[in-house]
Amino acid sequence: MIQVAILGFGVVGSGVAEVIRRNNGPISARAGAGIEVKYILDVRDFPDSPYADRFVKDFSVIEQDPEVEVVVETIGGCAVAYDYTKRALNAGKSVVTSNKELVAEHGFELLHLAREHTASYLFEASVGGGIPILHPLTQCLAANRLTEVQGILNGTTNYILTRMITDGISFEEALKEAQQRGYAEHDPTDDVEGIDACRKICILATIAFGRHVYPRQVPTEGITKITLADVSYADAAGMKVKLLGRAIRQPEDRVMAYVAPHFVPVSDPLASVEDVFNAITVRGNAIGDVMFYGRGAGMLPTASAVVSDVIEAARHVRTRRFLSWEEGGEDYVVGTQTLATQWFLRLKGAIRDLEGLGPVSILGRAGAPEDEVGVITEAMTRAELERRLAGRTALSAIRVLDESADLA
Ligand code: HSE
Repeated sequence: MIQVAILGFGVVGSGVAEVIRRNNGPISARAGAGIEVKYILDVRDFPDSPYADRFVKDFSVIEQDPEVEVVVETIGGCAVAYDYTKRALNAGKSVVTSNKELVAEHGFELLHLAREHTASYLFEASVGGGIPILHPLTQCLAANRLTEVQGILNGTTNYILTRMITDGISFEEALKEAQQRGYAEHDPTDDVEGIDACRKICILATIAFGRHVYPRQVPTEGITKITLADVSYADAAGMKVKLLGRAIRQPEDRVMAYVAPHFVPVSDPLASVEDVFNAITVRGNAIGDVMFYGRGAGMLPTASAVVSDVIEAARHVRTRRFLSWEEGGEDYVVGTQTLATQWFLRLKGAIRDLEGLGPVSILGRAGAPEDEVGVITEAMTRAELERRLAGRTALSAIRVLDESADLA
């Protein structure tokens, strides 16, 4: 019997308990041993929960119980979660988590600690919710030299954009729905400002390219400045607005990573990823492009990924599931200065004011004010765009995703 402790009984933690209960037969069969939840740690009381007898408030009960071999950390953040993870690993217990912030900030150190104590630190659920992506990257695609990873990495913002575009509801209303459905972070600023997607592209880039990429190294922009006018111009251009995280291998084994909204042509499979779904495209020199798609947030999809790691950890008790990468470094991650893309611009003025921007396609939208113009430019860097704007301020400046570009 493998005894498990769950830290944090929020959306994901309660989903983990539920999946372990509901699918106990096949889960135990696949783990090669019975899986049982012995403790649930939470500061709150849950007297009506079917697990009411298993709640504890003091982490040392779990830490000091030799029967607990796998700890599921679904607290989130880098405060107590960091402390408890270190203490669990130091006690030789494997830790499984959906905590992308902790992995993105301290993954290198925690994997090192796991190795020292012959334990596993597993975090499939930290990226893409229920989508299997990290295991495929480390195993099934291991034969490739990977050149790019990109995708829609945040379910909340994709849900909001879909509701705004398809149903014309306001940003605030759509966010409230995403919160009610259990998609949003505790502080939804992390979703809408791109911070959550930033943590996820860091983890993907780290695994794909082998060295730690830290969130502070990744330029990040969310969706709060996207207006219904931008969405309408995207429609006129045959595109959709999507928040993308991208990591692109650079010369001299460096990496460029960033998060920003993009205009995505409807011919690109990413454009049809809607609602809470996420999709991640990986480009390798043997496989070409491969895409992973599924529910990127929510209680049971995320619990599905967490519990699959519990099974993995249970199979490797007192050994260790190998996972490792190298430390990053200040000059390992380069900025987006050299990235040339087409741009969507929304400008105040008239068509005659476009002089100096170079060749552009002019877009129209219903209800546009007389003094507004929307265009798509040719491909250029941000610095070149600013030079051509020559002091004019664009109301919106959004990169266009060009899949045909040679990014490697
Ligand atoms: N808030 C996250 C999202 C949860 O919306 O994608 C899953 O990581």
